[in-house]
Amino acid sequence: MKQKQTTSHLTFTAAVVLMCLHAVPDAALPQAPEHDAGWAAPARAAAIPNPLANRPDAAAGGRKVFAERCSTCHGADGRGTTKAPDLASAGVQAQSDGALFWKISGGNTRRGMPSFSFLPPPQRWQLVLNLRALGKPPQAVAP
Ligand code: HEC
Repeated sequence: MKQKQTTSHLTFTAAVVLMCLHAVPDAALPQAPEHDAGWAAPARAAAIPNPLANRPDAAAGGRKVFAERCSTCHGADGRGTTKAPDLASAGVQAQSDGALFWKISGGNTRRGMPSFSFLPPPQRWQLVLNLRALGKPPQAVAP
């Protein structure tokens, strides 16, 4: 009898341990805004040039959309908050226009970056122009 109780207790303990082990991968996921190294645009998307590249005047529209839709997380100046990373950082600026467009379009909802595919593409390209203007002195931004 004693022997049997010990065995079932051990079985129960083993079951609990297994359940905990199973839960670990989810619980261990880093919280936003930690950078998700696995979140990268496919080469084809990254190679697409910004159709507004020669229209620096279009950045003003991007600035407006940024203030409306992005600043709550990324900060009014885009330099990041506790909710989202700095978009003027070297790591972001090193990415191609196409890669940034792809990230804005699809988001990374698992990490707290929403998808903005509902915005018309020209507006998303304007946002990319605005990202390029971040951190530069104001005179570098078209009026
Ligand atoms: C609800 C909060 C939130 C809003 C609103 C938001 N973002 Fe983000 N954004 C995030 C988070 C969190 C990340 C980090 C995701 C990651 O690296 O896994 C991120 C990442 C990014 C990145 C990629 C940075 C990198 O390291 O490659 C870009 C570009 C970006 N956001 C642009 C925008 C733009 C443009 C808007 C507005 C149209 C916007 N975001 C609105 C939360 C937000």
